[in-house]
Amino acid sequence: ERGAQEYVPDDPGSIEGLRAAAAHCRGCHLYRDATQTVFGAGPEHARVVLIGEQPGDVEDRRGAPFVGPAGKLLDRAIAEAGLDRADAYVTNVVKHFKFKATASGKRRIHQNPNRTEIVACLPWLAAELSLLHPQVLVALGGTALKGLLGPAATVSGSRGVLLPWPASAHRPELFAEEGARLLATVHPSAVLRAVDRDALYDGLVADLRLAASALT
Ligand code: URA
Ligand code: SF4
Repeated sequence: ERGAQEYVPDDPGSIEGLRAAAAHCRGCHLYRDATQTVFGAGPEHARVVLIGEQPGDVEDRRGAPFVGPAGKLLDRAIAEAGLDRADAYVTNVVKHFKFKATASGKRRIHQNPNRTEIVACLPWLAAELSLLHPQVLVALGGTALKGLLGPAATVSGSRGVLLPWPASAHRPELFAEEGARLLATVHPSAVLRAVDRDALYDGLVADLRLAASALT
């Protein structure tokens, strides 16, 4: 696993330039079984960047982040929190879908990316952030948060406060943009799976409200 860095252009010019380069990334083995690279999406002037784990089954087929069931829930929560969808860029710490086929081969079961895969893919996120200059980063769930803050970080231990960014980053040298804020919250897929779905959803909306409050 050599990582994505050698595939990231020195001067991509735009998110489109990054997306084109990422389509050919072979920085780790995950490109082999997935359909395509699912790069981030949203306006380059976005003040908020929402970061998930990795594309899901639907995203892998369609080539866009958060367009499946978790994305629908996230869109609803963003709107309810008073954030403008047009002011948000959505992406993932890992850009290829990691899955295991069922014995029949009919279904593809999501698998969590491991630390090596997350670290391999981080140069893409760093490159996205250096073009976007967001005011607020939102880590959706533990995998995204660990990618940003290191393996010891947990959502329960980090949520509820606006953390300084990139000062709090695990590898601040990778994230060279000016001061911003980082907010940790639950992953929309975790809300969908939860027994106490309404409570988790309300928590997600409350966290996104806090993120919105940091916008200037
Ligand atoms: N879950 C994620 O973390 N990202 C997506 O893009 C879709 C579902
Ligand atoms: Fe490259 Fe990331 Fe895909 Fe691995 S998961 S091949 S590092 S884009």
